[in-house]
Amino acid sequence: MLYLMVAVALATAAPNANVQNTCPPRLVSAINPFYMQVFNGTCFHFVVNDRKMYRDASIACRKDGGTLAMPKTETLNRYLSNQSLHYYGVVDELWIGLRDHEDDSTFIWADQEQMVWHHLANYQDHDNDWFGKLIEDCVALDPLDGFWYDSPCNNQLWSAALGSDLQKMYICQYSS
Ligand SMILES: *[C@@H]1O[C@H](CO)[C@@H](O)[C@H](O)[C@H]1NC(C)=O
Ligand SMILES: *[C@@H]1O[C@H](CO)[C@@H](O)[C@H](O)[C@H]1NC(C)=O
Repeated sequence: MLYLMVAVALATAAPNANVQNTCPPRLVSAINPFYMQVFNGTCFHFVVNDRKMYRDASIACRKDGGTLAMPKTETLNRYLSNQSLHYYGVVDELWIGLRDHEDDSTFIWADQEQMVWHHLANYQDHDNDWFGKLIEDCVALDPLDGFWYDSPCNNQLWSAALGSDLQKMYICQYSS
């Protein structure tokens, strides 16, 4: 029993070797490694104790050469939502690196790739909604159901009118 407790204490205190080898060195030394995880060779930083507007969250990820997380596959999406909910206990939406294009309202990832697989909860509505085309939409992952929901990217006025909180937690991604 004692051994188990010591092992658990060590596991939470020392950065996992994967994190140390894969995540940006500045981040590893500055941030509690508990909030970093490596999945399929990519480092993810779960920023669950800070909230920012989409643009500011995106800038924060870029500071260490990353982007907001891009769950382009169902496997990665399930992983990110499960970890957010069960490992970090997050029940609020987190920004991911996906937004709609200003001109034609198609969605693009933070690396400028076109969205192919998606998990948007209201994709149909988005396409037909004239109102939705007026404002830029940024996308957040809801860890409770794993679906993606769009909210205005950065307009406080729309935010207040729509009753949505634009200051959200977020997940950064650092590709090695
Ligand atoms: C794992 O990484 C490879 C190489 O980057 C990628 O092609 C594949 O889609 C990734 N798998 C998942 C589940 O994200
Ligand atoms: C979900 O996350 C928990 C906590 O990290 C982990 O124990 C469990 O294996 C995960 N489940 C899946 C399906 O990934």
